[in-house]
Amino acid sequence: MYSRPIRILHALVALGVLYQLIVSLLMRAPQRDHPVSQSALFLFSSHKWVGLFVVIVLFVSWAYRLIYWKRENQGRLFPWLSGSGINSLKAEGLNFLRFRWKQIPEDGVLAGTIHGLGLLAATAMALTGSILFVELYPNQPIFSATHFILHLHSFIANFMWVYLYGHGLMAIWHELTGDKSISKMFHLK
Ligand code: HEM
Ligand code: HEM
Repeated sequence: MYSRPIRILHALVALGVLYQLIVSLLMRAPQRDHPVSQSALFLFSSHKWVGLFVVIVLFVSWAYRLIYWKRENQGRLFPWLSGSGINSLKAEGLNFLRFRWKQIPEDGVLAGTIHGLGLLAATAMALTGSILFVELYPNQPIFSATHFILHLHSFIANFMWVYLYGHGLMAIWHELTGDKSISKMFHLK
């Protein structure tokens, strides 16, 4: 069972990133060479401000995780940082490939690694987003110096989508098969 601070921070990041991914399909940033509709600009503005909110929540989340690293068992999210973690990851990975899924612990390092990668992807979106925030402030259109960061932001977005689908589907699967993972994770009391 995850602690209350982790559950609250997770809910804020999950909803924020979900909003950012969905709104990115409908918005448009101000352009130099051609006009953009008012509604697309409005949605972009919401992307900018919700993005800033996610940046702050992730910053708090990282500070909390680093301070309470041991108590919150954060090594589980990044087992590849230690030799013993890599060995456990190999063992769980082998069980996964041999379809011995019942032997993989729910709170093991394999699930932890995937969660850790998701957290890193969200953080990379937030970091590139904050650079864009500064470069495009207050309503600058995209210019050539911004392009590299924007390409990076869009490139990482692919991993964020893959994570959302994989992680979301696993969560729904575990919810429906009786583990009630979503109810537990989003229970904020
Ligand atoms: C964690 C926070 C964020 C997430 C998950 C996120 C996600 C995304 C996604 C999925 C796209 C579409 C990429 C594509 O399909 O090529 C996008 C585009 C973009 N994002 Fe973010 N973003 C975040 C924060 C920010 C922030 C803070 C800014 C600051 C201004 C920003 C600026 C942009 C811009 C300029 C675009 C391109 C818009 C266009 O094509 O017209 N993002 N973002
Ligand atoms: C896309 C943004 C998301 C990110 C970056 C993310 C990240 C994480 C992380 C890092 C964990 C481990 C707990 C922690 O240390 O915080 C976790 C667990 C969990 N997440 Fe997400 N999550 C996201 C979205 C979602 C969504 C949309 C759902 C619901 C459908 C969800 C459901 C869950 C559940 C049920 C767990 C607990 C899994 C378990 O029992 O071990 N997450 N998530």
